[in-house]
Amino acid sequence: MADVIGLVVRFFHIAFAIAWIGAIMYGVGVLRRALPYMDPPTRKGTMKALIPVVTQYLPGTAVMTIITGAVLYLYLGRFDPDQLWGSLWGLVLLLALALAIFAFALGMIVGVRSAKRVLKHLEEPACDHGPEVAAHQAQIIVLVLGFVILALMIYAAEGGIG
Ligand code: HEM
Repeated sequence: MADVIGLVVRFFHIAFAIAWIGAIMYGVGVLRRALPYMDPPTRKGTMKALIPVVTQYLPGTAVMTIITGAVLYLYLGRFDPDQLWGSLWGLVLLLALALAIFAFALGMIVGVRSAKRVLKHLEEPACDHGPEVAAHQAQIIVLVLGFVILALMIYAAEGGIG
């Protein structure tokens, strides 16, 4: 019989991972490039509408990716310490877990905090774009980490290592 639990958890893990890293990709590849072409009032209105949603959506999808990933890791590793940290499969996934937690922390500490400062300083007449640059840099680092983690996932799943 097919492993229904494994399939369902894998489905949700991949769906949340797409939602998290896909949103970062969209931010860097589409929004960031479109915003400079908007006139200032439209840009301001767009940022005001987007930031409160993004600062909830990104942490939510990141946490769900990490939780479903950790459940899948424990389930596929059969809660067996020899598999979980005594095999190459387990070690690759533990590295991915550490990188994902780092990416999440960076997104929260630098990304979300800077985005909230951008929202506040949209009201001010003078702006130095400092928080915007910090939020953008955090997005790029999370995106690179996302690609590294994705490569580790494929490596772990592909060879059936362990
Ligand atoms: C940026 C974050 C992540 C992304 C984009 C991601 C993406 C993916 C994808 C696409 C797969 C399917 C791979 C395949 O079947 O070829 C997968 C599998 C998996 N992921 Fe993640 N993942 C992420 C984070 C995590 C974390 C933090 C864990 C926790 C350890 C985790 C644990 C797993 C496990 C156990 C599998 C199944 C591996 C196997 O079949 O041997 N993932 N992930």
